[in-house]
Amino acid sequence: MSYVEAAGAPLRKTGHIKLHGPEGFAGMRRAGQLAAQALDLIHEMVGPGVTTDAIDNVVFEFAMDHGALPATLMYRGYRKSVCTSINHVVCHGIPNDKPLREGDIVNVDITLILDGWYGDSSRMFAVGEIPRRAERLLDVTYESMMRGIAAIRPGGHVGDIGAAIQDFVEPFHMSVVRDFCGHGVGQLFHDEPNIVHVGRRGEGPELLPGMIFTVEPMINLGRPHVKVLSDGWTAVTRDRSLSAQFEHTVGVTETGCEIFTLSPKGYHKPVFSSGN
Ligand code: MF3
Ligand code: CO
Ligand code: CO
Repeated sequence: MSYVEAAGAPLRKTGHIKLHGPEGFAGMRRAGQLAAQALDLIHEMVGPGVTTDAIDNVVFEFAMDHGALPATLMYRGYRKSVCTSINHVVCHGIPNDKPLREGDIVNVDITLILDGWYGDSSRMFAVGEIPRRAERLLDVTYESMMRGIAAIRPGGHVGDIGAAIQDFVEPFHMSVVRDFCGHGVGQLFHDEPNIVHVGRRGEGPELLPGMIFTVEPMINLGRPHVKVLSDGWTAVTRDRSLSAQFEHTVGVTETGCEIFTLSPKGYHKPVFSSGN
């Protein structure tokens, strides 16, 4: 894999990994914070009886009010501003008019384009009280993402991220989804490189300052296998086990990495009163 300065590169996939400068990081900071703010709004509205269409509308209006565009709207035929993935839906669930129910877990995935930069982030939300096994899944999934991010340093490799996630998750007898991965991002939605959420340390492309990509592990309580429903989007676990995902957009720095999509309000993950 070879690298190219993003500032001089064409605005499309080129087969190279783009390295961004300070302007890119500034643009991504703003887009990432806007996506994080939108997720904070959703945090405050999710509950039993709320429809995923209502969530979709709030994000659309929020984007309009802030001069941004939801990246998924009209993307490859997708017609909503967010993805909402409930219970055994792994990712790319399509918002609809069905109310959320007490005990559901739901991922809301938001990508906002601000001044041409794409901020991509998702979080899990608990609808009222959820079963203990769902609480554990959410905690393990969040922690796996943060361990993957903590493994990022210049001179390291993309495989370090997957290894950190896989080594943390599998001892809980949970599984890491293979069919979807993180991705380079910047002035494109999905760019080089793929960030696979399993792997071996030292393998894959080297991590260099200026790389910008997502870390977005999908973790299942059962087996890792998924299938896509006939709507062409909704990915579900084949064994119908619960699935969870968190996603941050990050940039590699000289010393480690910067997370662009941290919650301004500290709503990083659901907190459970029962404790774990
Ligand atoms: N935001 C998703 C990601 O993390 C992509 C959604 S594409 C859609 O890459 F078309 F399904 F919305
Ligand atoms: Co993404
Ligand atoms: Co996303």
